[in-house]
Amino acid sequence: MNYRPFGQHPFNPSEIGFGAWAIGGSWGAQSDTDSLAALNRALDLGCNFIDTAAGYGNGRSEKLIAQVLRDRAASGKKEKIFVATKTPPAAGEWPPSPYDRADDCYPDKYLRDNITTRCANLGVERLDLLQLHTWTRAWNRDPKPFKFLRHLQREGRLGLIGISTPEQDQNSVIDLMRGGWVDSVQIIYNLFEQEPAAELLDVAKECGVGVIVRVVFDEGVLTGKFTADTKFADDDFRAKYFAGDRLARAVAHADEIKKDLIGTGYTMPQAAIKWVLSHSAVSVVIPGIRTIAQADANCGVSDLPAMPQPLIEKLRRRNWRRGVWYGGK
Ligand SMILES: NC(=O)c1ccc[n+]([C@@H]2O[C@H](COP(=O)([O-])OP(=O)(O)OC[C@H]3O[C@@H](n4cnc5c(N)ncnc54)[C@H](OP(=O)(O)O)[C@@H]3O)[C@@H](O)[C@H]2O)c1
Repeated sequence: MNYRPFGQHPFNPSEIGFGAWAIGGSWGAQSDTDSLAALNRALDLGCNFIDTAAGYGNGRSEKLIAQVLRDRAASGKKEKIFVATKTPPAAGEWPPSPYDRADDCYPDKYLRDNITTRCANLGVERLDLLQLHTWTRAWNRDPKPFKFLRHLQREGRLGLIGISTPEQDQNSVIDLMRGGWVDSVQIIYNLFEQEPAAELLDVAKECGVGVIVRVVFDEGVLTGKFTADTKFADDDFRAKYFAGDRLARAVAHADEIKKDLIGTGYTMPQAAIKWVLSHSAVSVVIPGIRTIAQADANCGVSDLPAMPQPLIEKLRRRNWRRGVWYGGK
């Protein structure tokens, strides 16, 4: 496992972190036994960064992480595992509408109380990294929630402060980075969603902001294992994410990438992760991991040789602007 700088902060995350959404819920059946085993395997392989959130099973993901870290400490392991969690808005739409007010979504008392719950679930006195789970550009000119989080940081409740981008307007965090409000950003950056390479990633580097990359597999389709006929359980959020013709369209685009990889020696999951790691502004990629086999496959990618430049450039052509209608489907 290789380690990288986390912006200007005195911590070096493993290139592969552990995305802990699915172990909390919303992804169909998931046993705690599998989740605990997957977490332990990833940490044994050198992963030192876990991303979770209040909303992942209403604390279930956080509590599983706490259990693993407690058990490992009790068994005498001397390791520092960095845990990033998230606070959702108290009210309003998701993502926040341009008319939602920061005072309603992230009021001071709510933030303070929510952080206390995060600490209790994770079994810590102080969070390594607290991320606001979503945001709107409407609050950039007066980012009051971050003013209060800086205050809590000075009180010692928080290590670092971050933001997870609203997926429909990821560039809204650029002004927050330039204003010094956030220590890290969590973004969607993958073979389909390459827009952060236009500006966001460079600004993060200039500002010394840590970059956490989520959804490296576009919720699984970039592993190449789905077909247009794949069915998701009703309690798997992907039944909605890939509703209608979305799955067939995404699979068709993923199949083009499969062709690009013929003869390269890369599997789809390896190429998806390695391509993201080819950008030097990226601090840590956090693939969602549910099983020991996925921990092995994903953590192993760090040790592969760097992706050759011609392949990096070839895969840039797979940028898919699926939110724009003029290009059709
Ligand atoms: N708004 C936010 O802040 C936000 C939103 C989304 C995610 N996140 C964070 O980012 C993390 C990663 O995103 P994600 O989990 O949504 O999606 P992802 O990383 O794109 O996809 C993860 C899923 O792909 C499958 N998978 C993983 N490794 C695989 C492999 N090697 N081969 C084949 N299949 C594999 C697993 O599901 P199956 O085995 O069921 O296919 C896994 O749950 C989350 O866990 C969470 O921590 C944050």
